[in-house]
Amino acid sequence: MSIFDKFRDVAAGVNELSELGIMPFGAVIEEVSSPTEGVVDGHPVLLAGTNNYLGLTFDPDCIQAGQRALLEQGTGTTGSRLANGSYAGHLALEHELAEFYAAASAIVFSNGFLATMGVVSTLAGPGDTILIDADCHASIYEGTRVSGAEVIRFRHNNPDDLERRLRRLGDRAAHALIVVEGIYSMLGDLAPLAEIAALKRRYGAYLMVDEAHSLGVLGATGRGLTQAAGVEDAVDFIVGTFSKSLGSVGGFCTSRHAELELLRYKTRAYVFTASLAPSVIESTRVALRIMQDGHQLRDRLWNNVKRLYKPLEAAGFKLGPHPSPVIAIEVESKERALIWWQQLLQRGLYVNLVLPPATPTGGCLLRCSLSAAHTDVEVDRIAAALIGLLE
Ligand SMILES: Cc1ncc(COP(=O)(O)O)c(C=O)c1O
Repeated sequence: MSIFDKFRDVAAGVNELSELGIMPFGAVIEEVSSPTEGVVDGHPVLLAGTNNYLGLTFDPDCIQAGQRALLEQGTGTTGSRLANGSYAGHLALEHELAEFYAAASAIVFSNGFLATMGVVSTLAGPGDTILIDADCHASIYEGTRVSGAEVIRFRHNNPDDLERRLRRLGDRAAHALIVVEGIYSMLGDLAPLAEIAALKRRYGAYLMVDEAHSLGVLGATGRGLTQAAGVEDAVDFIVGTFSKSLGSVGGFCTSRHAELELLRYKTRAYVFTASLAPSVIESTRVALRIMQDGHQLRDRLWNNVKRLYKPLEAAGFKLGPHPSPVIAIEVESKERALIWWQQLLQRGLYVNLVLPPATPTGGCLLRCSLSAAHTDVEVDRIAAALIGLLE
């Protein structure tokens, strides 16, 4: 018996891929020269597998703010905010996030996973009930596991199923926590948030929306699906990440309940980890400002979405149900998905390969993510490379 016996399946999977000479999970982007261009295996590639929705990773103002913070405040904070103290930038960013969402409280975490996992696991505890969409992200699942609460999964994007389960809870529904996402990260589909918000209101439950992939992408000022669906007054907690539209790293939770502040003292994922480096905080603050005024970036992004989704649909690919910056092609067989992924790379296109059990459908996905930084020519190249797979 070895402690590593439980990894036999993983080892077999890795061996299978290395025998085929295809290593999708070890891809190294050796150089990156813009939000859309990099070098993999010594060859230039067009990047269509990032979550750089607004293309802000190379924004000169974000870079300058980060550089200045590095010079003036050093490389890191070396400790947790509760134990070692907050920097002024942490408070400023929280203040700006609270203002942006017109929220009573905002807490910044060291990454998006910790924000979601930490808040879910602390808000709900033994005796509470969490209802989650079956396709929720691993960080949400992890939070439910750690919470000790009763966990009820409802069918993906199915308000009827959610309602059945809320009804069955009786009085307990009134303090249950419902957790959904804005845009789901695998198929790029949107939650039916207006219907879910109506159920939340009817049953008096709490509603949390993870806007990781919808922040900056949806809503007039980028506040996500909650804003786009016009249900901000029904949403109790918004969690999100700085690692996608804002082009840096970090996570946050905002709430219209001032009691969110109390979670600072109870959330282990906040208390027992080092806070974000000043350079990250300062570049994120600039990105947040750019994002709020980023109508043109959002328009550009959604033009790119239409420009790619339509020809792929017309070519007969099975895509996620909604056009969104995440465009995923479902591929029935694993062998074909692997070969296609490799062919795309050889033809200069980098996309993500997602294999079960990480996929919601049980099939395999070639997952593209679009950026406002992609030019029309680049989007057409992505479409041509993907459609070329069918020839
Ligand atoms: C829905 C969702 N929540 C949370 C996270 C975690 O964010 P981060 O990668 O910034 O830790 C992700 C990341 O992919 C995500 O898709």
